[in-house]
Amino acid sequence: MDQKTAIVTGAARGIGLATTRLFLRDGYRVAMIDRDSAELARAATGLARAHPVDCDVSIPDQVDAMIAETLDRFGRIDALVNNAGVADFGPLEDTGFDRWRTVMETNLDGVFLTTQAAIPALKRTRGAIVNIASISGLRASTLRVAYGTSKAGVIQLTQQQAAELGEHGIRANCVAPGPVRTKLAMAVHSPDIIAAYHDAIPLNRYGAEDEIAEVITFLCSDKASYVTGQTIAVDGGFEATGIGLPALRSRT
Ligand SMILES: NC(=O)c1ccc[n+]([C@@H]2O[C@H](COP(=O)([O-])OP(=O)(O)OC[C@H]3O[C@@H](n4cnc5c(N)ncnc54)[C@H](O)[C@@H]3O)[C@@H](O)[C@H]2O)c1
Repeated sequence: MDQKTAIVTGAARGIGLATTRLFLRDGYRVAMIDRDSAELARAATGLARAHPVDCDVSIPDQVDAMIAETLDRFGRIDALVNNAGVADFGPLEDTGFDRWRTVMETNLDGVFLTTQAAIPALKRTRGAIVNIASISGLRASTLRVAYGTSKAGVIQLTQQQAAELGEHGIRANCVAPGPVRTKLAMAVHSPDIIAAYHDAIPLNRYGAEDEIAEVITFLCSDKASYVTGQTIAVDGGFEATGIGLPALRSRT
């Protein structure tokens, strides 16, 4: 029971699966949470010290049951990574309320619910929370009325969590990834969007899942023991350079 335990939501693939693997590398036990049962079972196969839990983070009863199962299995929660997310890009006028709610219920309600349910256990370990936002939550852009707004909400929610939970020794931080070639991104990034990102990002490339996961696990670790309430963009420099002028850069 003294071995540290992490919960990672959206762990069946992409950034969540990469984060799970890094926690395992660092000696944690990991509760892998996802609502895609088949993909979760495949992802967890062969991962020692990982325990898959089917759960939709937007459904309160399922979240409570997931926290109970994690505690039953591992006895403690030291790190909570709220990574599960969905993307749906569309113009403001075409984004019906159902599409808006589908994005909000996973991306924002899920972070609220999962954190709330984990607080008693996190108080006991003086644990850490890392919420996954996006550069779309830092900077407005076309087509992201629901997605970008949900992620801006995640950034604010992180600060609220840091403000209230600090006195219990619980830290809450946020990672805002730039584009990474996961299933989520490839469903909404057309070839012209991919080319435009390459132009607008100073490092001129997409990020890799592990490059995001390294920052997430750092923020959960004791190395970040005095860091709370922060959002770190892991984005190849996209956020730092504003809109950017590819025409000017191409002259350098
Ligand atoms: N890939 C990118 O370019 C990018 C950029 C910025 C932010 N992000 C964010 O990173 C996070 C991970 O994204 P990814 O690219 O790895 O996506 P992904 O689609 O590869 O993985 C997301 C996982 O979350 C699960 N999930 C979705 N809704 C869920 C719910 N309600 N309950 C439980 N599980 C649920 C999915 O089944 C899937 O396994 C998301 O929050 C996403 O918004 C991704």
